[in-house]
Amino acid sequence: MAHFEDATNEYSAVHSSSENNVLSQLRRATWLSTTKPQMLSDPIQGRFLSMISKMIRPNRILEFGTFTGYSTICLAEGLVDGGEIDTLEINDELEDIQIKYFKEAGLNDIISRYYGHALEIIESGDLKGGYDLVWIDADKEHQIEYVEFAIKNLNPGGWLLVDNVIWGGAVLDKMKLSRPDSGASRIHRLNQHIVNHEKLENVLLPVWDGVQIARKI
Ligand SMILES: C[S@@+](CC[C@H](N)C(=O)[O-])C[C@H]1O[C@@H](n2cnc3c(N)ncnc32)[C@H](O)[C@@H]1O
Repeated sequence: MAHFEDATNEYSAVHSSSENNVLSQLRRATWLSTTKPQMLSDPIQGRFLSMISKMIRPNRILEFGTFTGYSTICLAEGLVDGGEIDTLEINDELEDIQIKYFKEAGLNDIISRYYGHALEIIESGDLKGGYDLVWIDADKEHQIEYVEFAIKNLNPGGWLLVDNVIWGGAVLDKMKLSRPDSGASRIHRLNQHIVNHEKLENVLLPVWDGVQIARKI
């Protein structure tokens, strides 16, 4: 089964548009200069984010978990002229690489970078809101708070994407779910929160590590 998944992933990657030059240079720089490069989105996941953003044509995007800025650049590809992105990251040591590649992508003026714990940033009142698309890909401890902030700050009909909602299959593991403080339980509560939310309609896509796509009603 794993072999089939690897093969279909590879086949899908070969038959999907490629990442551009700036993104492949950023991928290389991320692997050369960071301690957890595997946190980077795959090329195909980046193309997925770009495609979703191009379908929505957002004015304003909010991202939780900038890392080196790969997904930020992919999401920016769908912005309308004059559109903007707010992106939140706890690790300010990533600032140099982010600035370098946002500049290379011609995006420095439209990306506002916020450093600190995402929970503190959203509680600070510094973010303007009015988002059309929110992408959550930061810590897994406070995702319900991030989802609630997104729902309050999305425009009606706005879109929410949440990554890693299958948690490597752990959400299906009864042993792990029996421990309320396990990652699996936390993510399971998040998925229940989303599917039962009166202000959301959603699809949990069983691709990669699972992606929730939700629309604010
Ligand atoms: C999986 S990576 C993001 C990957 C990126 N979105 C991409 O696709 O290339 C998660 C990022 O969230 C950041 N992070 C973790 N906890 C955070 C928190 N509480 N507040 C803000 N950022 C956080 C990490 O430092 C890391 O850079």
